[in-house]
Amino acid sequence: MLATVLSLAELRPGAFDLRLEPSEPCRKARAGQFAHILCGPENLLRRPISLCDQREDMLRFVFEKKGAGTSWLARRRPGETVDLLFPLGRGFTANPDGPPTLLVGGGAGVPPMVYAARRLNGTAHAVTGFRTAGLAMLLDDLNALCPKVEVCSDDGSLGARGFVDAVCRRLMGETAYARVLACGPKPMLRAVAAAAAEFDVPCEVSLEERMGCGLGACLGCACRTKAPGGGETYSRVCQDGPVFDAGEVIW
Ligand SMILES: Cc1cc2nc3c(=O)[nH]c(=O)nc-3n(C[C@H](O)[C@H](O)[C@H](O)COP(=O)(O)OP(=O)(O)OC[C@H]3O[C@@H](n4cnc5c(N)ncnc54)[C@H](O)[C@@H]3O)c2cc1C
Ligand code: FES
Repeated sequence: MLATVLSLAELRPGAFDLRLEPSEPCRKARAGQFAHILCGPENLLRRPISLCDQREDMLRFVFEKKGAGTSWLARRRPGETVDLLFPLGRGFTANPDGPPTLLVGGGAGVPPMVYAARRLNGTAHAVTGFRTAGLAMLLDDLNALCPKVEVCSDDGSLGARGFVDAVCRRLMGETAYARVLACGPKPMLRAVAAAAAEFDVPCEVSLEERMGCGLGACLGCACRTKAPGGGETYSRVCQDGPVFDAGEVIW
């Protein structure tokens, strides 16, 4: 699918907010699904970026500039065309009926939580974690979509000092959540999954692996998971995930 760049803004140094208008109608994605974006002729492998928001005629992606692919993407200008496969992968369960959902985003794992909050239609609480205040992003978006947003930072420069799982434990002690949805670095996901298990709350986590095809064909994104009948198997993060039940993951 081709899409036209509507705008590209730097949210904070190193993090970019890209808004695209798809050239053809595209179906409403689930939170946690991603686009596999061709990042210029010199980068043969596409780069996976989670959907941050979707409106009629607008797809939003928020990404950190890391290497060649995301640097190319960060140089796009309005009116230029981007080639993407979208929507891909298995998304989060986002059910606005019933008890609230707890969203947990760490660093570059925060963008998909904005769309999850939109799909949860005012019923989600959010916890975000950043290494330091200067790396924070998307807090205004979450505050507009969630009645409760808690922030923490590793160094205490923004919100509570410490890691998100401590805040999750406190919130799970106060509210009976339907489920926890989490995206961020693997150690954070493991800690959040452990906290959810203590409170017996179902937990879904979005895993990251480097990807090749993005379509389930090359096995480049394989990760070890628990097999249904016991033992271990390999799952493809691009197609069996990126969202997995936390109980399936071998940490
Ligand atoms: C399903 C999925 C959704 C993602 N969503 C987002 C998002 O919404 N916003 C965002 O900022 N990033 C997201 N990422 C990470 C993003 O895909 C990588 O940062 C990007 O591919 C790096 O490409 P590059 O060419 O700029 O860097 P490269 O030159 O390929 O790598 C630069 C650095 O980034 C690291 N890196 C590369 N790919 C990944 C990866 N898949 N996971 C972790 N580290 C990686 C490399 O180890 C290296 O240190 C997502 C990744 C996955 C798998
Ligand atoms: S990236 Fe090719 S199978 Fe997942």
